[in-house]
Amino acid sequence: MKAGRIVGIIQAAVRIGPLGVLRRITYRAFCRVHKLDLADATHAQTGITEYDGVAHSASGGVDLAEAYIALGLQGKISSVLDIGSGKGGALIAFHRLGIPRLHGVELSKTIISTCESNLRKLGIVADVKQMHAVQIASFAPFDLIYTFNTMPRHHLRNLLHSIRKGRSGL
Ligand SMILES: C[S@@+](CC[C@H](N)C(=O)[O-])C[C@H]1O[C@@H](n2cnc3c(N)ncnc32)[C@H](O)[C@@H]1O
Repeated sequence: MKAGRIVGIIQAAVRIGPLGVLRRITYRAFCRVHKLDLADATHAQTGITEYDGVAHSASGGVDLAEAYIALGLQGKISSVLDIGSGKGGALIAFHRLGIPRLHGVELSKTIISTCESNLRKLGIVADVKQMHAVQIASFAPFDLIYTFNTMPRHHLRNLLHSIRKGRSGL
């Protein structure tokens, strides 16, 4: 059996085994202790239309950390842009992974104020701007661009096109 496959099997065992469960319980406790609000929010609560974007649900936590490590990104990223940064779930995970420069764009003012409150509770500094994702002027300053189920297909297509254009222009 190849070494890569063995590592994959061990990683999967850790993820679904007692250690993975313990990590997830610990993360849930961390959110509770710090009184973080990472709850889902409907379109009525975010105030944005279905045409412009999806409702809020948080990513981050142990799942994002595991994916980041599995992709071999640890130690290689100094800045991240979370497109549709929501209540900060992913930004918190990126902070815990050691990324020093955290940026986000988020359309909903209500959600941004919850994000600010969450980050304040943890002493995390992030630059979160209130804007529509399609208005982002440049992707060049960021080592990593992240988005989690933020927008419908028509906006996502344009966004990917802009990112590709930005990349090829580097
Ligand atoms: C599924 S949540 C993800 C939140 C965060 N990225 C995370 O992983 O925890 C998607 C977020 O994108 C925001 N959003 C939706 N459409 C957007 C748009 N067109 N521009 C910027 N933000 C948008 C929503 O308000 C919501 O907070």
